[in-house]
Amino acid sequence: MANYTSELPLASAPTLKLDHPTPKEKLEIWRENWKNWGSALSLEDYIERETHLADIPPTRDGGVTHWILIDPTLPPDARPILSCCESLRRRTFVSLPSGEVQEGIVHGIGSVFSSPLYRGRGYAARMLSDLGPILNTWQKEAGKSHFSILYSDIGKKYYTKLGWLPFASSHISLPSAASPATNGGNGDKAEGAKLLYEEDLKELCELDESYLRNEVAKTAKSTHKPAVAIIPDQSTMTWHHLRERFMCSKLFPQKTPPTIHGAISTGAPGSRVRIVFSRVFYGPVANAKSGNTLYILRLVVEDETDTDENAQKLKSVLQVAQAEAKEWEVESVAAWNVSDVVKGLLKRTGLEYNLVDRENDSITSLMWYGDGKGDVDNVEWVGNEKFAWC
Ligand SMILES: CC(C)(COP(=O)(O)OP(=O)(O)OC[C@H]1O[C@@H](n2cnc3c(N)ncnc32)[C@H](O)[C@@H]1OP(=O)(O)O)[C@@H](O)C(=O)NCCC(=O)NCCS
Repeated sequence: MANYTSELPLASAPTLKLDHPTPKEKLEIWRENWKNWGSALSLEDYIERETHLADIPPTRDGGVTHWILIDPTLPPDARPILSCCESLRRRTFVSLPSGEVQEGIVHGIGSVFSSPLYRGRGYAARMLSDLGPILNTWQKEAGKSHFSILYSDIGKKYYTKLGWLPFASSHISLPSAASPATNGGNGDKAEGAKLLYEEDLKELCELDESYLRNEVAKTAKSTHKPAVAIIPDQSTMTWHHLRERFMCSKLFPQKTPPTIHGAISTGAPGSRVRIVFSRVFYGPVANAKSGNTLYILRLVVEDETDTDENAQKLKSVLQVAQAEAKEWEVESVAAWNVSDVVKGLLKRTGLEYNLVDRENDSITSLMWYGDGKGDVDNVEWVGNEKFAWC
């Protein structure tokens, strides 16, 4: 990376600007932050992954934007990158207390990074405080942004100071486990649950979208607060699954990448329990310290009531997730911010699990662009689950 030979500029210098990296600068950034986020892969594979992820259907054509803080008097490819990040665009529903739902967009900030050479000088903070208001109107032709989000891996304080306030950040964690039952040779792995493949997701995501639209309206009306949701659409799920596919092709070259993307219980529409999941690798396979996890991207109990029948259905889909975690040498299964009903159901499943309140990692954080304070007491975030992570 180009380095400063003279004195470094102050982070408050009015001359510093946000810009977008050139292809060569992106490579420089990835070479540097590989140590932070790529330890499951070789440097070469990490660069290949990042290049690939910027060029898949949900992110190409502006779905992802790379940002850098630079001194604009210096030429591209020869200017030090004082700090960098990216923003990913997703679709949203927002409802005001009247219950009128508007569709819009949200930009999720990820991969916030400063080179060790430039840390502790306020450059990341400067970049983010410039970026916050920009994201309010960024790509406004695609829709209105009522808020922006990020997932902090450095606790709650840093981003709170910059205006991204912490929201619910808990999860349930279950150990991976061998499948308790097989239906024999037909590909099903647990009694009472059907496996979900790529071709099943379109219909379920569309169903979920209309369900969530109603939930957002209902929540805003009943709480008298604005309610927001990021939409777990097929494109968002595809992003996770292509990422997973890439990782598995590198980490398990001898295996066909996973085709099982979730599970759905028995029952008529309106009474089922369903999950969509993705295997995430942070470090070497089969090493507990890596924290590799099968994340439930989205969990829906279609008839959210605490009954024995629903507990059995939940158990059947979770057992598929546990078996898939085992199959792919992943330590645990996690589902973010499950509802109180799901917590009640879990107790009845008899499955072993922990409830974790995260204080440092993946702190879901939101900057509100509307009226009012925009904190966890004043904005309801419906369906705050792993699928929205970026
Ligand atoms: C986090 C990071 C981007 C900060 O960059 P920076 O340019 O040094 O940031 P700033 O100078 O604006 O801010 C420094 C502040 O960040 C805090 N900070 C830096 N790393 C931190 C960490 N891991 N945990 C908690 N706080 C941290 C410092 O304590 C300091 O706090 P202060 O302002 O109260 O003194 C940089 O340390 C980095 O690239 N880290 C590795 C990648 C990473 O973890 N990114 C964040 C993902 S959410």
